[in-house]
Order: sequence, then C-alpha cells, then structure tokens
Amino acid sequence: MSPIDENVSDAPDTEAIDTFKQVQHVIWATGDFPDVAERNIWDVGARIVRHLGVRQGEDVLDVACGSGNAALRAAKAGASVVGVDLTPELFDRARQLADEAGVWMELIEGDAEDLPFDEETFDVVVSTFGHMFAPRHGVAAGEIARVLRPGGRIGLTTWTPEGEIGRFFATLADYMPVPPPFAESPVLWGSEQHVLEMFSESGIELSFKRETIKPPPFETPEHALEYWSTKFGPLALARAATEGAGTWSELRVKLLEYYADQEPLEYLVILGRKAG
Ligand SMILES: C[S@@+](CC[C@H](N)C(=O)[O-])C[C@H]1O[C@@H](n2cnc3c(N)ncnc32)[C@H](O)[C@@H]1O
Repeated sequence: MSPIDENVSDAPDTEAIDTFKQVQHVIWATGDFPDVAERNIWDVGARIVRHLGVRQGEDVLDVACGSGNAALRAAKAGASVVGVDLTPELFDRARQLADEAGVWMELIEGDAEDLPFDEETFDVVVSTFGHMFAPRHGVAAGEIARVLRPGGRIGLTTWTPEGEIGRFFATLADYMPVPPPFAESPVLWGSEQHVLEMFSESGIELSFKRETIKPPPFETPEHALEYWSTKFGPLALARAATEGAGTWSELRVKLLEYYADQEPLEYLVILGRKAG
C-alpha cells in the first residue's frame, strides 16, 4: 500500500460519522424520551448534581442533556447552566420544567464530539447517560476535558455492560445491523478501565462508584414491553425494523424474558477534577 493509500484508509469517514449522528437524532426524537427519563432515571440528575456539590454562580455544562435531567438540577442549585444535545425536540420539555421551577438554562443543539465552546469555559461538566452515545469515546472525552477550567469537576453517569441496561442493549444488538467501525459500544463507558484510558491524557483525576436506580415496576412483562417499545426510541425503532425483517416475534420473546426478571438498574458514577 502506498503512503497515499494509507492516508485514504486512515482518514475518518466524516460522511459516515455525520450519518450516524443523524440516525442518533432520529432515534432519540422517536417515542417519548422525556417520559422515559422522568419515569425511570430522573433521580440520577439530582444525585449527580449533589455528588458534584454544584454551587451558586458556577458555570455548568450538561452534555447530551436531553430534557434536562442534570441541567435542571444544576440550575436549581443556582448555577449558570448550558445544555447541549443532538436532539432539540427534547428541549421543549426541558424549558417547560425550567419554567415550572422558576429557573433558566440555555439549550443549544450541538454535538458532544464538537462542543461549541472555547476551551476552559466551565467549572463543571456533567452528563447523565448522554455523552456515552457519542460514537468516538476518545473524541467525546477530549471535548469534555477541553472545555473544563483548571480545577473544574466532571460528573458522568454511564450504564454498565453487566447491568440491566447493558443486558438490554446486548439483546437488541443481535437483531440490529452491525455498527460502523468508528462507533464504540456506549456501555464501554461503564468500564472503569476504559474510562481511565479515555481520560489518560486529560489531566483529570478520576474516582468511581457504582449505584443503582429502581424504576417503578410494571404490572406484567407485557405492560413493560408495550411501554418501552412505544416510548423508548431505540426499542421503538428496533421493533419497527424487526417487524419488517420478520424477527420481531423472536425478539419479543427474549424481551419478555428480560422484563420478567428486572433488577435495579446499575450505573457507573465517574467523578473527576482537572489539575489546576
Ligand atoms: C439516554 S438519553 C439521556 C438524556 C439526558 N441526559 C437524561 O439523563 O435524561 C441520550 C441523549 O444523548 C443525546 N446524544 C446522543 N448522541 C449525541 C451526541 N453525539 N452529541 C450530543 N448529544 C447526543 C441524545 O439526543 C439523547 O438526548
């Protein structure tokens, strides 16, 4: 292979990466993610803001903020908050919740891999189950570190591969197209070793703990499946795709087994401070 050929094959496929993100946008705009978040994971935003000890007047960025899970709680703590997300459809609910709480936050359509801010802009960067869906983990970690001020803190929550949501995505993966080579698995962010590698050059010192959250139970596995396959974009679209491919009935059986045996949802809490 000539050096020119090598350059061509090593170049990031920007078109494929853009397409991947457009698909992510469609996924998270499908169904009713604000309802999913408020029913199932809403307390995590409050918990991470408490862990971070967010204070009055601090500049806080919520990466992949969705309908404002962490952003809202940071604003309630008196911080000056910006939320960024690929899916601006979710901002309507975030704004409604902020109005109800009598707080304000700036919400910007944007990409975790290309944050629209100067370096060293924020005292705190937070993400609850958000940045983990950016396909190139090193790029997303680099952006978080870049926009953080010296002495600033990060607080990230990520589903673990061994936990219930890791098990859910593994079940789904058997029925979905293989992801493109640049897209790392989101639940890798639930491995302490992987996270240490992602931030190894960042000057951010990390600590970890694992927590769980237990959503209210459904009456039956069928009720759970109906809820999740209607409201949760990744499953709503997987259902439509597998119905088209004739594999939904098989996936349905596996998901009913999954919903019949629900443990609390485990996630990794990643806390860090940048030297400075
Ligand atoms: C599971 S939701 C979490 C939302 C919110 N943080 C919460 O806790 O409710 C994942 C979010 O990541 C966003 N997202 C996915 N890829 C992204 C990217 N590359 N940049 C910014 N946001 C992204 C989606 O639009 C979605 O709002």
